[in-house]
Amino acid sequence: MTNQSLLPHTRSWSSALRLHFCSRACRPRFYFPRVHLAHLRLRDFRNYTRMDADFAPGFHLLLGDNAQGKTNILEAIYLLATLRSFRGVGGTQMVRHGAKGYFIGAKVTGQGEHEIKIYWSAAEKKIALDARPVKKLTDYLGTLRAVIFCTEDLLLVKGPSKARRRFLDLLLTQTQPGYLPLLQRYAHALRSRNALLKHYAVDEVALESFTQELVRLGDELTRQRRELIPRLSPLARLAHRRISHDAEELRIEYQPGVKADFAVELAQSRARERTYRSTLIGPHRDELQLLLNDKSAAQFGSEGQKRTLAIALKMAQAEYLTGLHGSPPVLLIDDVMGELDAKRRAGLLPLLTRVHEKRGQVFMTCTEENWPSELGKDSRRWEIKTGKLECLD
Ligand SMILES: Nc1ncnc2c1ncn2[C@@H]1O[C@H](COP(=O)(O)OP(=O)(O)OP(=O)(O)O)[C@@H](O)[C@H]1O
Ligand SMILES: [Mg+2]
Repeated sequence: MTNQSLLPHTRSWSSALRLHFCSRACRPRFYFPRVHLAHLRLRDFRNYTRMDADFAPGFHLLLGDNAQGKTNILEAIYLLATLRSFRGVGGTQMVRHGAKGYFIGAKVTGQGEHEIKIYWSAAEKKIALDARPVKKLTDYLGTLRAVIFCTEDLLLVKGPSKARRRFLDLLLTQTQPGYLPLLQRYAHALRSRNALLKHYAVDEVALESFTQELVRLGDELTRQRRELIPRLSPLARLAHRRISHDAEELRIEYQPGVKADFAVELAQSRARERTYRSTLIGPHRDELQLLLNDKSAAQFGSEGQKRTLAIALKMAQAEYLTGLHGSPPVLLIDDVMGELDAKRRAGLLPLLTRVHEKRGQVFMTCTEENWPSELGKDSRRWEIKTGKLECLD
């Protein structure tokens, strides 16, 4: 298994797409199975020694005091979907203190039933899908799709442009076959080119060869990102309008690092490249401007406005995935409700309810003080206490 941090999706892409974009007149004759996590098994994962739980589609509220293991459950589910932690940590941190390795097992039901087994230790890493070892990540990724909503999402608005590029990259990786290898090849060409530029006497022949590679891959990256924005933008605007009750208008603007011709702009930057010893032009410098009423949200937005915007972007990601794949991704919502005022919270709930109506699956962590009682009647409540999960219903 390689240590890739982004995930391509795999199966059923083209058929899902074909069915989804059918007109009303040719309404799909097939029923889209709703993919959901049906069973989760944890062994020596974070503060869980042994944990087994069955989950139906629908809403699951994970209730408990601080430091009991609520977020750890979401982390395990996200890891099943993407093979990485949304907390940005490596495997070592997720192994229970004192144990050798962690195990996560799952049953995913939807397009058939799939069994997943993941084992991670410093010495050994194994993934099996339906009892067969996974050799290529593309054969695995897409078995379960998830979107995480967490406090760190604020970085999408407040953080450096890298956070926003990463958001675009993750979404393209989840939807476009071939995007992840393209991104990796671009990163490799960029690293190689930058390494050459560090030398006092630059090898011009080698530099030219990496320049050509960079331009070829970079043009394709820019093209795919540019195409995504007009598809994502209306979804984000709508989600934002609903959560903020039309308080302000969101606009998303893609500002590519390359203005017109990558090769020409690279050639023009050679003198500056010599000074900085690094590639200064390219999609690795792309920016996604987030504007509220035409003003930069990062510079002028209040904390509440930034939070609303971050949630709207994630909601748009979920809607986009639903549109393409015909089945909503599993929504993992960590500590987000408590951060919104009552009005914005009331705006978010109908969006979540829509996922519920589509028989999607939502896992939401809450403490006793901030659990949304509005959801009470339709949700299954779980109590989490010191690494133990118990169904309250
Ligand atoms: N590798 C590990 N081994 C054992 N315990 C761990 C490990 N990593 C984290 N923990 C513990 O897991 C516990 C639960 O963490 P988690 O983040 O899931 O809490 P939480 O219920 O979400 O709390 P909060 O409401 O404060 O967000 C913490 O006490 C933490 O110290
Ligand atoms: Mg938590």
